[in-house]
Amino acid sequence: MTRSYPATRMRRLRQKGWIRDLIRENHLKCSDLVWPTFVVEGKQIKQPCENFPGVYRLSIDSLLEKLKEVRDLGIKAVAIFPVIDPSLKDSKGSESTKPYQLMVRAIQAIKTTFGDDFGVIADVALDPYTSHGHDGVLDERGYVNNDATVAALVEQANVLAHCGCDILAPSDMQDGRVGAIRGSLEAAGHHNVIILSYAVKYASKLYSPFRGAVGSASQLGSKDKSHYQQDYANSDESMVEVELDLQEGADIIMIKPAMMYQDVIYRVKEHYQVPVWAYQVSGEYSMLKSFEKSCGYQESELMVESLVALKRSGSDVMITYAACEVASLLLK
Ligand code: PBG
Repeated sequence: MTRSYPATRMRRLRQKGWIRDLIRENHLKCSDLVWPTFVVEGKQIKQPCENFPGVYRLSIDSLLEKLKEVRDLGIKAVAIFPVIDPSLKDSKGSESTKPYQLMVRAIQAIKTTFGDDFGVIADVALDPYTSHGHDGVLDERGYVNNDATVAALVEQANVLAHCGCDILAPSDMQDGRVGAIRGSLEAAGHHNVIILSYAVKYASKLYSPFRGAVGSASQLGSKDKSHYQQDYANSDESMVEVELDLQEGADIIMIKPAMMYQDVIYRVKEHYQVPVWAYQVSGEYSMLKSFEKSCGYQESELMVESLVALKRSGSDVMITYAACEVASLLLK
C-alpha cells in the first residue's frame, strides 16, 4: 500500500485532545505499577535517602501507615527491601535466614494488616545482609561462589515463603538458582509462591541510590558486580538467561534497568509470551526527578512519559519509585 500527502495527513488525527485520546495505543493504569520501598528497624521512622528524592526508609509501623494509601491508589503489589543494621552483617549474610529478621516481621505485619489487598514481593539476594555488599558468598579470591550462594538463597527463599511472602524475586544473577528455589518451594508445599526472576539484570551504574538506601554501597566500595551481573553490551545473552529461567520455573521475567534496555524488553516480549516486568531503577528515577525539578515540570508528567514508553516496548508492569505519585495523577 502506498500512502501519500495530501490524502494522508498524519496531523488529522492529532488535531484535538479527544481524537488523540481515541487513537492512543498504550494506556497506563494504576495496576501496571509496583511500588518499591525500604524498611528499617525502629518506630515512627521516615528517613530520607540520599540522592534519592522523595524516597524514605520506613519502620514497619510507618510502612503500614503508608500502605493504606498505596492500597487506595489501586496498586497491586509492593516490593520491600531491608536496611539491615551493620552490626548484623557478616561475610555469609547469615541474618537473611534468621526466623525473626526484619523482612520476616515486615512481611508478617503487612499480610496480617492487609491480607490479599496487594501482593508482597521480596528480593532473594544476600547484598543487604553481607559485610562485603555482594549478593552472594565469596571464595578466598573475592569471587562470588555460585553454588554456595544458591544454597544460601534457597534457605532465604524458604524463610520468606514461610512467613507469607507472595512473590520471591531472585535478584542475585547466580546460575541455577530459579530451579533450586522452585524445587525447594515445591518440596515444602509452597506451590503457589510466585517466582519473579530478575532474569536479565545488567551490571549498571544506575543502582547507586538503591545501594546507598540499603547501606551496601559503603561495603561494596569500588568493587563491582560484573562477574555475575550481565555486560550491558549484550542482548543475545539476555535471551539465554530468560530461556533458562523459564525452564527452571520462573513465572514472571524481569528486565532491569529499564529505560536504556528497551530493546531487550521488546526482544523478550516478542519471543516469549510471558509476563515481562521492567524495573525503573533508582538511578533512572533520580535522573528523571532532578531533570523534572530543574525544568520546573509539573510533578509526574515526565514519569508518565517514561512509563508509557516502557509499556510500548512490551513491559506489562513497571516497578517504579514513582508508583504512588503517578497513580495519584492517573486517578485525577
Ligand atoms: C540487589 C538489588 C539491587 C537492586 C535491586 N535488588 C542492587 C544491586 O544489584 O546492586 C537495584 C534497584 C535499584 O537501583 O532501584 N540484589
